[in-house]
Amino acid sequence: MTYTTDLLEKGYFSEVSDPALVIVSIESACNLECLHCYWEHGLTKSPERDWSKQLNAIARWGSDLLFAGRILSPQGAKLIRDFYNLTGKKIGIIDNGYTILDPRYRDLLDIYDEVNVSIDGVAADHDRQRGKVGSSRDAWRAIHVLKEAGLDPIVSSCVSPINIDRWSEFEAELYQYDVPLSCTPVLGIGGNIGRMPVFSSKELIKAFEFLLAGVPKLINLLDPKHMQVLLPLLKEFEWQIEDDGYTAVVNSVLVKYRPYSLSTIRELNLQWDGEFYPFMDVLSGGKPVTKDRVLDTANSFARMEHSLVRTLFE
Ligand SMILES: C[S@@+](CC[C@H](N)C(=O)[O-])C[C@H]1O[C@@H](n2cnc3c(N)ncnc32)[C@H](O)[C@@H]1O
Ligand code: SF4
Repeated sequence: MTYTTDLLEKGYFSEVSDPALVIVSIESACNLECLHCYWEHGLTKSPERDWSKQLNAIARWGSDLLFAGRILSPQGAKLIRDFYNLTGKKIGIIDNGYTILDPRYRDLLDIYDEVNVSIDGVAADHDRQRGKVGSSRDAWRAIHVLKEAGLDPIVSSCVSPINIDRWSEFEAELYQYDVPLSCTPVLGIGGNIGRMPVFSSKELIKAFEFLLAGVPKLINLLDPKHMQVLLPLLKEFEWQIEDDGYTAVVNSVLVKYRPYSLSTIRELNLQWDGEFYPFMDVLSGGKPVTKDRVLDTANSFARMEHSLVRTLFE
């Protein structure tokens, strides 16, 4: 837990180890056009590519792998199979519920150790946020089929002004089907700015209090602006230090703060151009990774996140 204690105690990192996690998003095309998506839409499909160089690096580092889309494709599936054959390690996946059930990729169901399916509220709200009528029905279908296949999918949700008014109906559905929930208040970053409504400060506090009172769940907090607004509430909680962030349990709800500095120093993104990027750089058009760049980027976030983290533990 060196990084998390460094951020809490010193407010900066002195060195970078190999990444604990590599997040893969090698496809630039997607079948949905979610309003909240921080990636630009309408890009062309990624070129066919030999991923062995990148996989060998990931294996050498001993990193875990999370396949975060955009959607599964033959070459994404090949990358997952090759990673498993090379390392024997299972992978996490986050999917919008479509490609994970594709018959071409059924063999991959044995290779996942964690499956997240994105569902953003009750059907009407999900379909609006995801830009496609019927996308909620298809995502729920994926949940049911995955459960029948013996997997234990988690619903991953982007909580927003679009879905918060009917959120309790949504939680009732999750409770009925016994599906765990991990949710993140919508982040106004990357390509979604101006396209997606985000919470005002007052709305965010209301939404957070509402989430705390509902079914057991994980609430992910990432944005320092969100943290600033919620700090008067958060500092009353009993916080613990984990490898990848700070957690507090409140009314059977796990609240987790994952500072951008920690994600930057622990994780790398593998993108469709075959390059590894530091976390966040990929959204802001950064340059491929070097250890110095990771350290600089992590420390520039750490400067503003240090006081937030200290306040949690005061
Ligand atoms: C970028 S997607 C990639 C995987 C897949 N295409 C999907 O939608 O599940 C990974 C997760 O990030 C979430 N996400 C995307 N933009 C977000 C934002 N602005 N705020 C919070 N979560 C967001 C998505 O809802 C999804 O659950
Ligand atoms: S959030 Fe996922 S499904 Fe939605 S547009 Fe982005 S990549 Fe596609």
